[in-house]
Amino acid sequence: MAHARKCLISFSVTLLFFAVGLTAFAGEKKESGNTPVAEAATGSSTVEDKARKPDVKPDVKKESSYTSVVEGTFDSVMAQDKANKPDVMKRHLSFLNERYDLSLKTTTDVTMSGGKPLPVGPTARLKESLTWDTLAGMLPAQIKEKNLFPYLPLPHPNHASGGMLFSQKQLKQVSRLERFDMDFDLPDYFLPEFPPPMYLTTHKDMGDVSQGKLVTLDNYYEIFNGILNPKQLEGMRLLVTQFPQQQFNATADRKSEKPSQGVTCFDCHANGHTSAATHLVGDIRPQSHRNRIETPTLRGVNIQRLFGSQRALKSVEDFTEFEQRAAYFDGDHLTAAKKGVNVLERGTQVHFMAEVMSLLDFPPAPKLDVFGQLDQEKATDSEKRGEMIFIGKGKCIVCHPAPYYTDNQMHDLQVERFYKSQLINGQYIRAEGPIKTFPLRGIKDSPPYLHDGRLLTLEDAVEFFNLVLQIKLNEQDKKDLVAFLRQL
Ligand code: HEC
Ligand code: HEC
Repeated sequence: MAHARKCLISFSVTLLFFAVGLTAFAGEKKESGNTPVAEAATGSSTVEDKARKPDVKPDVKKESSYTSVVEGTFDSVMAQDKANKPDVMKRHLSFLNERYDLSLKTTTDVTMSGGKPLPVGPTARLKESLTWDTLAGMLPAQIKEKNLFPYLPLPHPNHASGGMLFSQKQLKQVSRLERFDMDFDLPDYFLPEFPPPMYLTTHKDMGDVSQGKLVTLDNYYEIFNGILNPKQLEGMRLLVTQFPQQQFNATADRKSEKPSQGVTCFDCHANGHTSAATHLVGDIRPQSHRNRIETPTLRGVNIQRLFGSQRALKSVEDFTEFEQRAAYFDGDHLTAAKKGVNVLERGTQVHFMAEVMSLLDFPPAPKLDVFGQLDQEKATDSEKRGEMIFIGKGKCIVCHPAPYYTDNQMHDLQVERFYKSQLINGQYIRAEGPIKTFPLRGIKDSPPYLHDGRLLTLEDAVEFFNLVLQIKLNEQDKKDLVAFLRQL
């Protein structure tokens, strides 16, 4: 009898969950702007969307860990992908526009190191005529229950397919990186400068060594001969040499119209910084659980000890080897063999490449002193107040200590306190676990922020941490904190 009652209670609790879940699910579906047509276009996500309810674990066993073999000829796959593309993009862009205000707002007084204005936010839209202050006054559980969190994980433009994806601006210069199945999603003013300046720890005297050019196989020798030693020159050559990759290769299983020799490290890490190219992380299965990842800058890898947002590889050398053997192929070593994986030799190639990457310096920060703190003579009052918030009320310093503003650790920000697990545009959002503390030195140069680029501006980063850390910053605090971050 007691047992039966217990069962009944747990059954009604399940029902309640289910009902709450369904309502939330319907809400989210509305936000994502899905249409049946667009869903059909992305294939597997339709099935997932229907099968998965919020806060219920998806049946992980149903999807294979292995990449599925492409069916049909290259021409038929391309024709189908091209036909689907308008719907795929329409669906994703309407979702983005519902989540963010993507209109152009930029700074006039402060710029990135090469002169590009900074995007100004916050860009995230708040639901139900909320204000940032009322939201910050709510408990995480309330925000979660009412689906009010403005900074949910950001899906890839076509999460079911994923893969490397390059900005429109980059495609204008490097057309071989164009995909026929989807386009990059964010407007250029939310992205780093392209091509970005390049600073070397060994040549601080020279400032930007790139001469305003995008460093490629065609010009690297002319730019760096006489500045780098022969070993570093060879490392640089390898960093700008194309090697086969999952979407860009010579087989029929590719996403470029013409067969491709592959991508170079600097296609994504343009001039050793970032082109904001996006991808899905290789080390998670099933597909819907993989995080979107935004290419991190390689500036300052010399002072870092962990590499990758979650993999935490321990050296730049390890990351270099692993990037081409596994990450290029979505963590699938089997298709890699078919597409022509390039196995780098540790002693004569990996070390050379790593040595060059370790010369990439952070951009100049003229207002910081030898401790990496604001020079009181040069800083404005607002910047000084921002530094005090960073150290005090904001608690940022706990994980982002000077001089480089990273503790070289990983932290679990437990952002899932604020949202329910659910499927959004093909991505199953859930607890993300510990993520690397990216350095904040030079941060103004590398929007969008967080591992998946969900924070489009520094103002969004401040609103995000105001909620996540529950630090209750006021309007002035937030302005001052942004002013400080812009000087790092
Ligand atoms: C999509 C384009 C892309 C290409 C091409 C690429 N990377 Fe990356 N790289 C990324 C992304 C995205 C990450 C972040 C990975 C993660 O979060 O796990 C990354 C991370 C790294 C890191 C660690 C940085 C950090 O701060 O943790 C290093 C080092 C690196 N890449 C080196 C290379 C090298 C060397 C090559 C060429 C063999 C290369 N990358 C090619 C996108 C790319
Ligand atoms: C408990 C540790 C912790 C605290 C405290 C913290 N951060 Fe972070 N910060 C992180 C981690 C971890 C990441 C990477 C998270 C991710 O990518 O999902 C990060 C990322 C960032 C980024 C984006 C970096 C990039 O390259 O995209 C910014 C900006 C930032 N933090 C600013 C702040 C500010 C401002 C504060 C204080 C208000 C703060 N953080 C407090 C751990 C912390």
